[in-house]
Amino acid sequence: MTDASDAAAATPYRVLARKYRPQTFAQLIGQAALVRTLSNAIQAGRLAHAFLLTGVRGVGKTTTARIIARAVNCIGPDGTGGPTIEPCGRCEPCLAIAADRHVDVMELDAASRTGVDDIREIIDGVRYKPVSARYKVYIIDEVHMLSKNAFNALLKTLEEPPEHTKFVFATTEIRKVPVTVLSRCQRFDLRRIDAAELARHLTDVAGREAAVLSDGAAALLARAADGSVRDGLSLLDQAIALAAGSIEAEAVRAMLGLADRGLAFDLLEHLTRGRIAEALALYADMHQGGADALALTQDLLELTHALTRLKVVPGAAPLELLPDTARERAGVLAEAMSVAALTRLWQMLLKGVTEVQHAPDAKAALEMLMVRLAFVADLPSPAELVRRLQSSGAEAGTLAPTAAGPAATAGAPAARTMRAEPAGEISVPSAPAGGGAPALARRVEPAPAPAAGSPPPADQTDPRSFEEVVALFGARREALLRTQLAANVHLVHFEPGRLEFRPTAAAPRDLASRVGDLLRQWTGRRWVVSIASAGGAPTLHEQARATAAERHQAAAGHPLIRAVLDTFPGAMIQAVRDLTHADDAPSADGSDPTDDAEETGDPP
Ligand SMILES: Nc1ncnc2c1ncn2[C@@H]1O[C@H](COP(=O)(O)OP(=O)(O)OP(=O)(O)O)[C@@H](O)[C@H]1O
Ligand SMILES: [Mg+2]
Ligand SMILES: [Zn+2]
Repeated sequence: MTDASDAAAATPYRVLARKYRPQTFAQLIGQAALVRTLSNAIQAGRLAHAFLLTGVRGVGKTTTARIIARAVNCIGPDGTGGPTIEPCGRCEPCLAIAADRHVDVMELDAASRTGVDDIREIIDGVRYKPVSARYKVYIIDEVHMLSKNAFNALLKTLEEPPEHTKFVFATTEIRKVPVTVLSRCQRFDLRRIDAAELARHLTDVAGREAAVLSDGAAALLARAADGSVRDGLSLLDQAIALAAGSIEAEAVRAMLGLADRGLAFDLLEHLTRGRIAEALALYADMHQGGADALALTQDLLELTHALTRLKVVPGAAPLELLPDTARERAGVLAEAMSVAALTRLWQMLLKGVTEVQHAPDAKAALEMLMVRLAFVADLPSPAELVRRLQSSGAEAGTLAPTAAGPAATAGAPAARTMRAEPAGEISVPSAPAGGGAPALARRVEPAPAPAAGSPPPADQTDPRSFEEVVALFGARREALLRTQLAANVHLVHFEPGRLEFRPTAAAPRDLASRVGDLLRQWTGRRWVVSIASAGGAPTLHEQARATAAERHQAAAGHPLIRAVLDTFPGAMIQAVRDLTHADDAPSADGSDPTDDAEETGDPP
């Protein structure tokens, strides 16, 4: 089956791809459709004048072109045969074509001869009858490389080709072939060779070379060849040279640099789980070991693709390229990640490839890319956000509208709210801790919360809590007293008509009497306001500060807020607002929405 059975034993080593060039259609693998169509045409005596063979590299275009040249010229061992789908390989034309010495079969590589002169040479020859063959066959390889003028010259001939000529064009880039040429040819699309079929072919060739290829090794080589027989055979060449005799998967994996792919997977795992320190350390090691930034980025991209396929079609992803240990973890990772997260990862990596390619310092570019990837790792998608928000609302027995509803938005018209997704403001469920705390959506604001926008609290004629007392002072424009009650009073006892507190040192000495007078005046009832010398609750300011600190801490610990802070460098949590009581006055925790200091928890 070799294309030079006449080659002497002394011939220097020939690469497998050339040694095993199919001489008949039967030897051609993976191109059944092409063979069937050609057989039919030959049998029916309806062969086209021009063929165009297209397909990626190494799938058999040049090979097919040569087989066609023989098929149309074979005269059979006895010299009486006609065109056949199975050229005998023994008659003079067959042998001469195989040895590349047949005067009537011309092979031209358009990649090297693209000019109009080269084509004119051919065209001139077309007029003459074949010297000895049935047909003159012109094989023009890489036909898309011909110049425009050359194409035009060719076109004339193609329009009215003489009876005794056949053209066979081959190209990897069909789109570069002018339509005018395309329309005059019978076109055959050669397919990429299926991995399983290629693996069988490689095993077969290895056998002829007295080497044993394990199934795993064959699958790896076939996968790496990516549908190209030539690439597969070249890889097999290398593998045979490396592993004298018996070729195992591990050796192939090492040869293909797939051990690195295991590391690349480790890296991807770190990144998707937000472990940036580990990722950077691992990359530093890989860099030391000579890993190329661009190749590594492409590996990450490829792995992401594999993971995504694994996610949508479990068990169907091409993970052979991963070492066994990583393969299992890949399944777990694919399960854990959402399709949205995977596609986002893919897009970021795709962009990253270009960046790494063009950055003056590829290593730095990859590191920056890794930082980005790690930091968005736990950033939920818009859909997830909505889901989280809704489920947190459901848990608390209330629904999301509190966060996004008209009350919240209308209540704070001036609030500058951080917008992240087109869906609107980022609202996150409050931390589940703190039993008494209102557990609903809160809003993160990057800028100081403006005091404007909240209407003055309704006039409370008969306050039923200390907080309501304070609010009443606010409503009656007794701002100074209101502040002093909030900041300088430890409440000891409250009941309607009676108020007992311990003033701080900063409180004015006549605070109790003034408060009593005004309360009497506003409520129309008797108020006893007395002073205690010990005990009492923290002041309202202290309480508000504590609550704010608690919320701040809870918010800062929330994964979503953390991700936001990490993703937008320089962002700070300025205020944590409770949207449950959207600017009602006064809020349940005693803070007054008109008082900035309390609400934002500004440091003293
Ligand atoms: N379908 C096939 N069946 C068996 N072997 C093949 C096939 N395709 C390619 N090969 C092997 O690959 C080698 C190169 O094939 P060929 O030159 O026909 O590829 P090509 O499609 O012309 O590639 P290119 O686009 O690079 O020119 C052949 O010598 C043969 O060993
Ligand atoms: Mg070729
Ligand atoms: Zn023959």
